[in-house]
Amino acid sequence: MGFQANADASAPPLAQGSAPAKLILMGEHAVVHGFPAVALPMPALEATVVAWQTPGPLRLHSPVFTGPIAEAAAVPASARGLAVAARQALAMLGRPADGLTLEVRSDVPMGAGLGSSAAVAVALVRAIYAAFGRTPTEEALLVLAHRAETEAHGTPSGVDSHASAIGQPICYVQGHGARRLVLPKPLHLVVADSGRPGHTGEAVSAVAARLRSDSTRTRERLERLGQLAEAVVRSLGAGQVEAIGPLFDAAHGELAELGVSDAGLDALVAAARLAGARGAKLTGGGRGGCIVVLATDAAEQDRLAIALTKAGAARVWRVTQPQVKDMGS
Ligand code: PMV
Repeated sequence: MGFQANADASAPPLAQGSAPAKLILMGEHAVVHGFPAVALPMPALEATVVAWQTPGPLRLHSPVFTGPIAEAAAVPASARGLAVAARQALAMLGRPADGLTLEVRSDVPMGAGLGSSAAVAVALVRAIYAAFGRTPTEEALLVLAHRAETEAHGTPSGVDSHASAIGQPICYVQGHGARRLVLPKPLHLVVADSGRPGHTGEAVSAVAARLRSDSTRTRERLERLGQLAEAVVRSLGAGQVEAIGPLFDAAHGELAELGVSDAGLDALVAAARLAGARGAKLTGGGRGGCIVVLATDAAEQDRLAIALTKAGAARVWRVTQPQVKDMGS
């Protein structure tokens, strides 16, 4: 049964906000330690938050929690990030935390490494602003989404919320923000989901532990991932899309050595290469979740999608990033 705001089910919602999933092309994990990452929006998967006018305190209606979120003490950990962002957004608008229900409708799978929580947070802030006839500035959106992500995950790098909020290919460095990328050629990718939820928090902690116990080698691997991200930026900027294939392969090797891949992801990556892909790697936090595969064109996307499904992928998406001609266009 879906959400019903009033006895009069025909009452329209006040407003809504949406945001896309994100896809990390290069630099996951390394970005947590200050190295660059490259990410794209994935508009085929979208989070939407619908704002309804309802009596009483501010409420959330979501797959993880349904109930009042006006008071911090009443909110379970699973919804704390969204609750904090919602209250802060209302405070920034000079509005009290009541009279609204925020309904989350998202087709971004949770735990797949596609930035589900950031997409929902960005959509929620947009919905709240839209409910008062406003549009958040990019800065406000990023601050509020980052606040939600910090509450939910501890120490997010910010790459997820930037990619989702900006909605364009970016190169992101923690503390320096995002640079929009120019892409003279379109980029054809396939994303395949292992079907097992990833464990980003665990994987991030495992890399941090490795950095303490085997610091020189781990730092070298993170630096190498940062260099691979810079090489992706250069190749994309030069229109040499095929050159990023070997960079994907090298990154998957480094990520596996860091302990954030697993047998299921390695098997999907191997299946992609066997099917002729130019390169493949895990994407996002790892230890479950998804891989991203480089294809040459739409026909190869189809072929790889079929091969990955046969190899056991639970879901596959063809992701085509169109050309981006001008900065900020
Ligand atoms: O698994 P996701 O979609 O949350 O992506 C995590 C990306 C990491 O680099 C592993 C963590 C981060 O905060 O950047």
